Amino acid sequence: MSGKSKVVVIRHIGDEALGIIQANPNIDLVLWKEDTQAPRSWILENIKGASGILVVMGEPVTRELVDAAGPSLKVVSTMSVGYEHVDQPLLAQHKIRLGFTPDVLTEAVADITVMLAFMASRNVGETLAIVQEGKWSTVPWSPFLFTGPQLSISGPSNPSARTRLTAGFLGFGRIAQATLHRLIAFGVTDVLFTARSDSSKVSQEILDKYPTLHSVKQASNDELAAGSDVVFVLTPGGKETYHLVGEEFLKKMKSNAVLVNTARGTCVDSDALAKALKEKWIWAAGLDVVEGEPNISADHPLVKEPRAVILPHIGSATTETRVGMATRAARNIVAGVLGEKMEAEVDL
Ligand code: DGY
Repeated sequence: MSGKSKVVVIRHIGDEALGIIQANPNIDLVLWKEDTQAPRSWILENIKGASGILVVMGEPVTRELVDAAGPSLKVVSTMSVGYEHVDQPLLAQHKIRLGFTPDVLTEAVADITVMLAFMASRNVGETLAIVQEGKWSTVPWSPFLFTGPQLSISGPSNPSARTRLTAGFLGFGRIAQATLHRLIAFGVTDVLFTARSDSSKVSQEILDKYPTLHSVKQASNDELAAGSDVVFVLTPGGKETYHLVGEEFLKKMKSNAVLVNTARGTCVDSDALAKALKEKWIWAAGLDVVEGEPNISADHPLVKEPRAVILPHIGSATTETRVGMATRAARNIVAGVLGEKMEAEVDL
């Protein structure tokens, strides 16, 4: 026994982040060195007697893992902002702390959220495929070919353009507000959002911050579905938001509205969404996350919908952001093991 605290890191998270852990003389780092997911059996074997474990999104932190670690386990650090893969009541029961990585990924995810809204509204999924498959010559330019709803305000030169544009946010946290910040430049005029508690103060703050907005209102799910030209799903995952967007919600949406999900796949009922697109209840969907990911086959009804633009969960995938997440997760685990304040800790 070295007398040091053992910290298990289940993926190679980059030299900079690993360096933070290795630099601490009181920590023994046990690392799965491959650039692949560590097998569960390796994790269960190596976590025995560990003080901390650094995991990535999707690795289940369950009773099996906590039991395998034994009473030495003090901290779990997840390199993600979401933590529905972690059994939070179990950690609370064992007084195990949980670190996570909010903030650093806000801008990257907001970028891709806006990008997906435009990709979906402007038929980018379908039209990219046409070029890639060498079929451009079969669809020569014509006035209304591939036209979609415009998610920006055109100005007085076009009297046919819409003059109001409402963005609806299911969940109005950091990423939602960073998304709105970007949309202001596109002329969004009205905002609807859902929140768990009365948020009239938030509405006023947003109105003060963006004087070009006509209105900012906390809404029910139904009001938001019916009133939005683009709906952004930006709630945490987990049981509370399971199938938040299902048939009922989708049926209430405008037929030329766009749905964007960059939160968690479980928030949207995939079968209902495939039906909504097929039967044209809504215009299009842009998804960075899908229920059951990454095991989605090319035959999945949603994947086959031409107006579903689906990305393989790359919301935070910029180099800068991933380094920021990895280093924050590393600092969290070191602080947790040493019993110090973490940069970002979940209140269990
Ligand atoms: C997270 O950190 O939870 C994101 O979904 C990963 O990109």
